[in-house]
Amino acid sequence: MDQSADRIEAVLKEERVFYPSEDFKRSALLAKPEEYQALYEESLRDPEGFWGRFAGEFHWFEPWKKVLEWNVPYAKWFVGGKTNLTYNALDRHLASRRNKAAIVFEGEPGDSRVLTYHDLHREVSKFANVLKGLGVNKGDRVTIYLPMIPEAAIAMLACARIGAIHSVVFGGFSASALAERINDAQSAVLVTADGGWRRGSVVPLKANADEALASTESVRHVVVVRRVGQEVPMLPGRDHWYHELMASASDRCEAEPLDSEHPLFILYTSGSTGKPKGVMHTTAGYMAYVALTARYVFDLKETDTYFCTADVGWVTGHSYVVYGLLLNGATTLMYEGAPNWPDEGRIWNIIDKYGVSILYTAPTAIRAFMKWGEQWPLKYRLSSLRLLGSVGEPINPEAWLWYYHVIGKGRCPIVDTWWQTETGGIMITTLPGVHPMKPGHAGKPFFGVEPDIVDTSGKTITGADEGGHLIIKRPWPSMLRTVWGDPERYERQYWSQYPGNYFTGDGARRDSDGYYLIMGRVDDVLNVSGHRLGTMEVESALVSHPAVAEAAVVGRPDPIKGEGIVAFVTLKAGYTPSDALSAELKAHVVKAIGAIARPDEIRFTEAMPKTRSGKIMRRLLRQIAAGESEIKGDTSTLEDRSVVERLKAAQ
Ligand code: WTA
Repeated sequence: MDQSADRIEAVLKEERVFYPSEDFKRSALLAKPEEYQALYEESLRDPEGFWGRFAGEFHWFEPWKKVLEWNVPYAKWFVGGKTNLTYNALDRHLASRRNKAAIVFEGEPGDSRVLTYHDLHREVSKFANVLKGLGVNKGDRVTIYLPMIPEAAIAMLACARIGAIHSVVFGGFSASALAERINDAQSAVLVTADGGWRRGSVVPLKANADEALASTESVRHVVVVRRVGQEVPMLPGRDHWYHELMASASDRCEAEPLDSEHPLFILYTSGSTGKPKGVMHTTAGYMAYVALTARYVFDLKETDTYFCTADVGWVTGHSYVVYGLLLNGATTLMYEGAPNWPDEGRIWNIIDKYGVSILYTAPTAIRAFMKWGEQWPLKYRLSSLRLLGSVGEPINPEAWLWYYHVIGKGRCPIVDTWWQTETGGIMITTLPGVHPMKPGHAGKPFFGVEPDIVDTSGKTITGADEGGHLIIKRPWPSMLRTVWGDPERYERQYWSQYPGNYFTGDGARRDSDGYYLIMGRVDDVLNVSGHRLGTMEVESALVSHPAVAEAAVVGRPDPIKGEGIVAFVTLKAGYTPSDALSAELKAHVVKAIGAIARPDEIRFTEAMPKTRSGKIMRRLLRQIAAGESEIKGDTSTLEDRSVVERLKAAQ
């Protein structure tokens, strides 16, 4: 846990408490601590009653027989029920919200589109028919590799409508990362675009897709959205233009009644091995949980315009750009491009242009906004904002205070939401009208969530502010159900360390008010700009280069990205360190994974610090990478102490 110790020190210095304003509380869905407390206690005392009551709001083709069946570590929610997520996110709203904006889209070049619930229902129905026409059946996998454009949401919802399982791959991932994910899921169809806009240039999605498809066999059809208007090769029989297929598709497609536990999506995320995990979520539990969290955490009102800056390639985009918002009949804003294009005021410009009332973004973005300066947000009218959110990594109090004062003008509560790809929805946060906020502390567990902090033997840590491992002691509706194709990994990764409890991989502490403070990962997972990356993934990319004998990757604190990537590399005989080789290795990692994994620094070394049993001592490398002058902790198991001295001397 040494990795996060320094970060915690910095976080703990801020002790001020901020209260939601009377104004906010007056119209908040929940405004009394007693109300939260009563609902929370009920959700633990009688989970079946609590979740059953809430899920009753939805449309069910067949009612469930039992709310929860828990065979550690396999949960089934709303057992025996039949429902459809898109029926609840679209059809259900047609009577009362037919012409309300469902998706407001802003493209990077400044183009804009609004899809009402009626429009979205029609487009989703049509694309569901397109998928059927391409032979997609219930249970088949569809990979979606698109920019942040409405078609990404349409494709996801179309899959959910017919019971196909979507696997969205972030558009910033490389061809080989895409191929790996297609192969693991054995997808039958790929939905992509000719390209997407990013900082005024075209991201060549179709070209990447073609390269990926050269090393995959499962994909029978590729659907290509025309976004940038660039000429792309189309393989006859395999590749089809989205607009051509849509032109002749019927707009009638009834939502398929699906079993509560029917798989909804697979989303790949990094773990502590080289191979990303396909986290699998199912239908009804995910639906209930993301809908309820979106409603209460964002205090959603009929008139809100909600803007989450996450890409649909990440879980935040799944749960809190698309599903959680549409299930509540809300208006969700999608922005395609970079926050600093054409200038650093873009996000504030969008808020002003559309009258955004809720903004949900990541600490790394907030730190970049701070660096660019207050003059950008000051140029725009931000008075429509009433609530701010943060997600993805611990937020340092300095960034929290800037967000609160400069963006929220001291009026808007901030929700610092802790959760994971695996948890499906927000797990720990303050509720905006209920709880006082403490910068750096995520806050309290959401309804139905029972966290604990334990030492490595599994004993609860009772002392206030004492660090330990964060676990969840009981199943919740939107928990992952398995790792796609690898149930053994699911059991080992999440349920073996503290049997019967879900292990999050995060360190945390709890204060005397029961507020949780998340300290960061305790495993070999990095958090770079709020994106999860496995050190082993980057290492295996590096060792696939002919010059590299061995690689060890560690994180080092970074003022904007949270964590930066430092790679220690030993070369094979015949290769010598050089700036050119360093640049080549960085490019090699970008090719293997994507730009998010580009190492900030490559450090060539003749040897790695290893234990006598041959294990690389990453703890030492982390300290060296952070530039610490003195190496702390036990070094007695080092095989060769001089390696550390040499590494330090080379700084
Ligand atoms: C980290 C993103 C502190 C944490 C939704 C977790 C956070 C990992 C917070 C999951 C937060 C996320 N405070 N840390 N509010 N939110 N994290 O799967 O380490 O991309 O385990 O899901 O991000 O990242 P993932």
